[in-house]
Amino acid sequence: LPDPDLAALTDPDVAALLPSPGAESDKYRRGVVGIAAGSHAYTGAAVLAVGGALRAGAGMVRYAGPSAPVAQVRTHWPEAVITELDRPSLAGVGRVQAWVLGPGLGTDDWAHELAAQVLASDVPVLIDADALSLVARDHSLLFRSAPVVLTPHAGELSRLLRVARERIEASRLEFVRRAASELNATVLLKGSTTVIAEADRPVRVNLTGSSWLATGGTGDVLSGVAGALLAGGLSGYDAASCAAYLHGLAGTLAADGAPLVSADVATAIPEAMRSLRRAR
Ligand code: APR
Ligand code: MG
Repeated sequence: LPDPDLAALTDPDVAALLPSPGAESDKYRRGVVGIAAGSHAYTGAAVLAVGGALRAGAGMVRYAGPSAPVAQVRTHWPEAVITELDRPSLAGVGRVQAWVLGPGLGTDDWAHELAAQVLASDVPVLIDADALSLVARDHSLLFRSAPVVLTPHAGELSRLLRVARERIEASRLEFVRRAASELNATVLLKGSTTVIAEADRPVRVNLTGSSWLATGGTGDVLSGVAGALLAGGLSGYDAASCAAYLHGLAGTLAADGAPLVSADVATAIPEAMRSLRRAR
């Protein structure tokens, strides 16, 4: 029997939701994404999140981080507008329409202060990876009125809810719903099947993708894709859903039955979008 509290995402659903630029569009209208990610220890996560946002059609990507990831982002993505941070301050970063916070950020005091500044802004924020650990330790970071999208895997959701990972794996729908209502956020729970929950909405189930995506850094690409869609004006629920769908489809196209690396998933996002438009 169809369950009214569950909805499987389809090609036409996602094709209808995806923004496409009109003749009068400019880069600001298409959406400026801010990426607060990366650290001296983890530079690749920043590169991958920036790549996901650019390939998903951001009008502009602003990257802010310390010198080591800045050097990597500069090399990989000349399109990004970069602010090198000597201190955890966003004062020198221009206006953005949505933030992606967390991939490779670390969990030290510096990272906590940067996360607090991003979350003090009045634009939607997607929180992933290390920033989920920061929020798990300090739920008060989530007290804000603009939208929040959380993109945990089961281990990260376990820390956020303080529930054993095994219990979450056994009842993923129950716990993704609980997290959305208790944390007042859109919650995208990653895994072999990704599920997206928001209060008073059906849980959306994403069936695209394959186990070739189980390789380091694909989650960082997903964050960037969802950030671009948020900055482009989609709600947290629609941005998260469309990002999961496109990311899975891009993974399938990139792998084509053989191994992929996470950067390949970002590269294949436009091809995934084209294949949806053809199906429309
Ligand atoms: N089938 C389909 N999709 C899968 C499968 C599978 N079997 N396994 C993983 N995926 C997808 C997930 O749905 C998700 O989109 O791959 C992506 C993996 O994302 P993450 O779990 O965030 O992995 P990763 O990008 O390597 O994370 C990097 O951030 O979250 C932290 O602890 C994590 O340090 C790690 C870092
Ligand atoms: Mg991750």
